[in-house]
Amino acid sequence: MTSEQKATPNAALSGTFKIGGDLSVNRLGFGAMRVTGDGVWGDPADREACLQTLRRVPELNIDLIDTADSYGPAVSEELIREALHPYDQVVIATKGGLTRTGPNVWPPCGRPEYLIQQAYISRRRLGVEVIDLWQLHRIDPKVPRDEQFDAIRKLMDDGVIRHAGLSEVNVEEIQAARQVFPVATVQNLYNLVNRKSEDVLDYCQRENIGFIPWYPLAAGGLAREGSVLVAVAQRLNATPSQVALAWLLRRSPVMLPIPGTGKVKHLEENTAAAGLTLSDEDFRTLDEVGRQEYAGQQK
Ligand SMILES: NC(=O)c1ccc[n+]([C@@H]2O[C@H](COP(=O)([O-])OP(=O)(O)OC[C@H]3O[C@@H](n4cnc5c(N)ncnc54)[C@H](OP(=O)(O)O)[C@@H]3O)[C@@H](O)[C@H]2O)c1
Repeated sequence: MTSEQKATPNAALSGTFKIGGDLSVNRLGFGAMRVTGDGVWGDPADREACLQTLRRVPELNIDLIDTADSYGPAVSEELIREALHPYDQVVIATKGGLTRTGPNVWPPCGRPEYLIQQAYISRRRLGVEVIDLWQLHRIDPKVPRDEQFDAIRKLMDDGVIRHAGLSEVNVEEIQAARQVFPVATVQNLYNLVNRKSEDVLDYCQRENIGFIPWYPLAAGGLAREGSVLVAVAQRLNATPSQVALAWLLRRSPVMLPIPGTGKVKHLEENTAAAGLTLSDEDFRTLDEVGRQEYAGQQK
């Protein structure tokens, strides 16, 4: 990485993607789950640091922020509004469909009236006329999925949300949802060493659906001293987190990583990954060792 790229992290260097075919964002975004307390519950320990982090986000040309009504709950959406409202060219993507009863506890609720109510509450809390992107956090197995999809269709028809996405879904579920509403994005767990959603990613790429990998920084054993990832990072004068993000960005043009942090330093470090280009050889080597690590975890 050159000294210039280190000095001025710039998410615009990650290239752009049009969500739903019309909402252009820089591909490297920000995940706002970590601006909450332990267990994604309550206020963050250092509220001011989290507000500073959020204010720094658009300064680094990040224009896609991912959040959810359940982060806190409410805390993440409230802090985003406090830090950034009125929004200037920033897409706030939120989610609904999970309830909170305590730290690290997330019971799903996909009843249509609940999903609709939560989207209205998010819209009000964020202070927007229309939610640019609203995602169903989980398909609730206790509720017929078409009832959940119909609720999303209604939110679109009523102008509450502009685009809609899904989270933690397989290809068949995406196809079923697309019978009811246009699926603009899919948000699944995915990173260098968790490749469970390869088929979903390939489907999204074919269909030009944005793929938002959550937990993008996880590098498992590859983050350890002496690993290929660490060696590549050292050679490129970058950090392992940056290489993990650069690998994701290179993996697919529909990839929209949303690394999460409550610290300006980490935000800047992560954003600098947008300016890090991996050679074909480094990309292939990392791809292979990541797949091997994932296969090893499955045994
Ligand atoms: N759809 C879903 O079901 C789902 C589930 C989980 C998450 N998400 C979304 O995905 C986003 C990202 O996922 P995530 O936050 O779980 O995982 P992540 O972005 O892979 O990792 C975040 C963790 O890494 C730390 N970190 C960030 N940058 C770092 C750096 N440069 N060096 C060292 N540590 C660093 C953060 O702590 P510090 O605060 O100390 O930096 C935090 O603990 C979330 O914010 C959320 O928006 C969605």
